[in-house]
Amino acid sequence: MRLGLLTGGGDAPGLNAVIRAVVKTARRHYGDDVVGIRDGYEGLLTPDGVIPMEIDDVRGILPRGGTVLGTANRGNPFARRIVENGIEKLVDVSDEVLERIVALGLDALIVVGGDGTMRISHELVQKGCPIIGVPKTIDNDIGGTDVSFGYDTAVNFAMEAIDRLHTTAEAHHRVMVVELMGRDAGFIALRAGIAGGADAILIPEIPFELNAVCDTIRERAEGGRHFSILAVAEGARPTDGEQVFVEAGDGLRLPRLGGIGYQVADAVARRTGMETRVTVLGHLQRGGSPTAFDRWLATRFGAAAVRLAHTNGMGRMVAVQGTRIVDVSLADALAVPKRVDPSCDAIETARGMGISLGVGEV
Ligand code: F6P
Repeated sequence: MRLGLLTGGGDAPGLNAVIRAVVKTARRHYGDDVVGIRDGYEGLLTPDGVIPMEIDDVRGILPRGGTVLGTANRGNPFARRIVENGIEKLVDVSDEVLERIVALGLDALIVVGGDGTMRISHELVQKGCPIIGVPKTIDNDIGGTDVSFGYDTAVNFAMEAIDRLHTTAEAHHRVMVVELMGRDAGFIALRAGIAGGADAILIPEIPFELNAVCDTIRERAEGGRHFSILAVAEGARPTDGEQVFVEAGDGLRLPRLGGIGYQVADAVARRTGMETRVTVLGHLQRGGSPTAFDRWLATRFGAAAVRLAHTNGMGRMVAVQGTRIVDVSLADALAVPKRVDPSCDAIETARGMGISLGVGEV
């Protein structure tokens, strides 16, 4: 077969492990040809965006963050930004994508991406593009799979940050707020918060009451614990307010979240009289070397995507359910976005241990 491979959307640790697994499995086991597409779907629309890939090209990339193919989170072929006579407009170039796939003689295009990229891919499949999906996101919010690679690395980094904040919080008797990624899903904040021993965890799925958070902080202080750690997902919002953004969106991009950590810290300082500080981990959560778990999952996903190409699995996405690698249709993966279930055991665990979720549990 002749396979194409691209990475789209925000990067996540483990993308290079997928690329390496695809190229090695395709070349060694099946004798397939592989071409890499640069910068997501954009590479299919530019003359030098397609490069042949050999095993030599993927040597040494397993522990590296980022993606050797590059990525783009504005690369939607159904709404590509062009400037004509000085005027910016969005045009549908999806037919060109299909034409290029045909011209390149691709039997399958393996697309590694998050929910946005999977949505675009699903639409391209309807047009006849032979696409196989591989789920990638540090937010862990893609349906159809128990987990996606990148999430574990982000959680471990966030947990280490919380560990470090503990010692300085205790030394200075402060409330430390750590703002973590998680647009609509609070998986990173929940897992890192529990693993790092945070005193409050605020996530998008559970709108919070500041009074409840402050009660927890005061109760700790009254018990002699004159410091607290609050893990706040960037997409969290108070029951009487909205999500906080640093930048408005446009036709191509979602608005950029950020700032809820500062709002929570200011309000906590005013209400409790305690000194507060804010740490925003931001894109540090997306960088660095993938953990063993993410390398292992990404490698299995990459190899499974090649096997799926050989069993005519176009329009499907590789996934992990329990301990097994499976595949699901892109339509099913996209049907229900994955979110933290407020009645799941992790939430119950947090509540039972006295971690505030900002809902008046004290
Ligand atoms: O979806 C992954 C993610 O890291 C979100 O958690 C975050 O809101 C967003 O991407 C940031 O995207 P960008 O790289 O465009 O700033």
